[in-house]
Amino acid sequence: MISRGKARAYSNIALIKYWGKRDEKYILPMNSSLSLTVDCFYTETEVVFSNSYAKDYFYLNGSLQDESATGKISSFLDLFRKAADIDMKAIVKSTNFVPTAAGLASSASGFAALAAACNVASELNVGLRELSMYARQGSGSAARSIYGGFVEWQKGTNERDSYAVPVDDAKWDIGMVIVVVNSNAKKVSSREGMKRTVSTSPFYRIWSDKAEEDVKEAKLAIKNRDFEKLGLITERNGLMMHATMLGANPPILYWEPESVLVMKMVKELRDEGISCYFTMDAGPNVKILCRMSESNRIKERLMEVFDEERIIVTGPGPGVVILAL
Ligand code: DP6
Repeated sequence: MISRGKARAYSNIALIKYWGKRDEKYILPMNSSLSLTVDCFYTETEVVFSNSYAKDYFYLNGSLQDESATGKISSFLDLFRKAADIDMKAIVKSTNFVPTAAGLASSASGFAALAAACNVASELNVGLRELSMYARQGSGSAARSIYGGFVEWQKGTNERDSYAVPVDDAKWDIGMVIVVVNSNAKKVSSREGMKRTVSTSPFYRIWSDKAEEDVKEAKLAIKNRDFEKLGLITERNGLMMHATMLGANPPILYWEPESVLVMKMVKELRDEGISCYFTMDAGPNVKILCRMSESNRIKERLMEVFDEERIIVTGPGPGVVILAL
């Protein structure tokens, strides 16, 4: 017997960050978060279950992965095998149209695409809300990549009600300019970084309540199409997340000198009347939330300092797409 599924999922950039788990097994976050799905980075994944395979195989960008990487995929496949009551092994082929581990949320598109492909291949065919809960168990931020536009991941009360919900399609002159300061794999993964922050940073205590408030305010700003307000909350929330890490032991600093340079340039652009706001994740790259109509002006300014190939302009992206085999 053989059964297949294939899907594409887009990355997302958090405007209000997920940083810290209250449950590591089910990946339940300390706080709700809010993101923008982007159309420039995506992952396509094909899953084939067959009773003729002796074990699981995982290919990433065409190359067969080692036991450790395959083990993580196998544990994820087990969620679907258990729910669909199948015991077939699988071949998983995944292609990232995104610089892997550059702080550009590749695990988000990766696990969202894998979840969607498994959903088809296992014939479980759950709805999007439940799919989001599966994706969450691969990587927290993947829960949000199930939907397009602005998306909220509600922290919920237990493993059955912590899922993402669509907030707005973001089709109102919203864009992002991403400056790839450094595309090398990060030294401290988000998983390790958030764990260390939660367990050692005295600044962490005030984080989750504030982030929860920020999500509410950001949603209101989106509802009112108040871009400036959304931008200011985004910028503040991102900086506050990094502040919690600075208080960790040992401290975590993802920034490079160029990251700070971009942050200063964003402020200058704003002083000149261009509405743009920065945010950063677990890496040195800077993401600038802006008006799509002003993205080229921002890009031009950044090109005075950075090579063109390090500046990526993106619009809002869609939710998961099931692909024909
Ligand atoms: C800084 O979703 O990669 O990008 O759940 O441990 O896999 P795990 O972490 P992950 O963390 C993302 C952290 C972040 C902020 C965000 O995307 O909300």
